[in-house]
Amino acid sequence: MPKTKNTWDPARYQARHSYVWGHGASLLDLLNPQPGERILDIGCGPGQLTHQISESGAIVIGIDSSPDMIGDARQNFPKLDFRLVDATRFEIAPQVDAVFSNAALHWIKNASAVAACSYGALKPGGRFIAELGGKGNIASVEQAVSEVAGSVSDPWYFPTVGEYSTVLEHAGFEVNQALLFDRPTRVEGEDGMDDWLLMFGSALLAGMDEARQRDIRRAVTERLRPTHYRDGGWTIDYRRLRVVAIKPAAPPP
Ligand SMILES: C[S@@+](CC[C@H](N)C(=O)[O-])C[C@H]1O[C@@H](n2cnc3c(N)ncnc32)[C@H](O)[C@@H]1O
Repeated sequence: MPKTKNTWDPARYQARHSYVWGHGASLLDLLNPQPGERILDIGCGPGQLTHQISESGAIVIGIDSSPDMIGDARQNFPKLDFRLVDATRFEIAPQVDAVFSNAALHWIKNASAVAACSYGALKPGGRFIAELGGKGNIASVEQAVSEVAGSVSDPWYFPTVGEYSTVLEHAGFEVNQALLFDRPTRVEGEDGMDDWLLMFGSALLAGMDEARQRDIRRAVTERLRPTHYRDGGWTIDYRRLRVVAIKPAAPPP
């Protein structure tokens, strides 16, 4: 499933990788949505977190550039507002109280464009609450893939605290919190690593034919087995970057 055209398999994502939005629960606490607030969820995927935000009484808009993900989100939560929109080129009117994003922004290399659009979408005083892969995320997997496959694509943006804070500040935000932390993440099942590589890692192998990708997945799985597989599951070295930033309130007249 190469990610060159942002194609996703929502069924596989929901069946095997629900830990992605499961880990987003504590990010929702940080968002602390209030009834009546307008909240934008960037890279909403199949919409589970968008739905959870809406349960607070907030009015939500979920955007995603994958037609499959947006189609699935609309099917999962037909009453919610999901839009097929690229996070590097969007406007939202009227402006929102908060921009939220979980596990999406590391798929978008043009972070400055996302930050500028988010800034434009927010009311003065509005908040930007996001978590993405940070510097060092899945380094062991990337290393194993390049050892097995040689030169591979570089599909992700895994910034440091300093890099990402600078991007947000250039857009006009005040960064209140930025934290890079380890979150070893378990993928269940003997075939869990193969499935992870198929779901997410295929972006590394973009442009290779199916048979070559399958061979690489097999070889990477065997290379990682001694260190990553235990008790029926695989532990992957996720590192997350969590940020809270504010669009400064307009100066008094
Ligand atoms: C791992 S999923 C996360 C989905 C959801 N936020 C969650 O927590 O389950 C990443 C999502 O980012 C979306 N995405 C990637 N690039 C994007 C872009 N340029 N604009 C909007 N969405 C994008 C993908 O389509 C995908 O749905």
